[in-house]
Amino acid sequence: MSESEGERRELAARSGPGVVLKVILALAIAGAALIAYISTGERSFSMKALSAYDGSNEALPVYISINGVVYDVSANRRVYGKGGSYNMMAGRDASRSFITGCFETHLTHDLRGMTDKELESLETWKNFFKDSPKYPRVGVAKLPPIDPNSAIPEPCADPKSAHK
Ligand code: HEM
Repeated sequence: MSESEGERRELAARSGPGVVLKVILALAIAGAALIAYISTGERSFSMKALSAYDGSNEALPVYISINGVVYDVSANRRVYGKGGSYNMMAGRDASRSFITGCFETHLTHDLRGMTDKELESLETWKNFFKDSPKYPRVGVAKLPPIDPNSAIPEPCADPKSAHK
């Protein structure tokens, strides 16, 4: 055996267990994620991951999130997809705008300052999506915590009134 061959084997023997442990760890993490997915059947979206489903990519479905629950609204791509009248709600959690009809500054899950009555109207929309046979639930959104020191979103000058 040449000297360099011997060195290579020695190196492989030394680094071997470390590599094997890393592979086992990676498999364990992937397995845990798979088990979580299979047991709940749900995906968990970061806001960045969710934004990919805003309708701009025709090859992907369109998702909305309401109060952290993600629905596939591709069945109504005309309305939620690119150029649709409610496209601004896609690929994000715009819960506040469901209440206020303000589709400029309220495209956020920040519900600070909403009255009980206003929060009830969000319940109505939550139930609308939950009960809709057209819109399957696909997972949950990991809503980032709202900084209590940040400003409450400004109301729009001309919000839409609620659906009758
Ligand atoms: C708080 C205010 C409002 C909110 C949050 C809101 C939200 C929505 C949402 C989420 C949809 C899609 C429903 C679905 O998936 O089937 C929708 C549809 C619709 N909305 Fe509104 N809306 C508001 C006010 C209004 C107002 C004031 C009007 C009329 C001037 C209006 C007209 C429509 C129409 C026509 C559709 C059907 C769209 C279509 O099929 O082309 N909305 N709305």
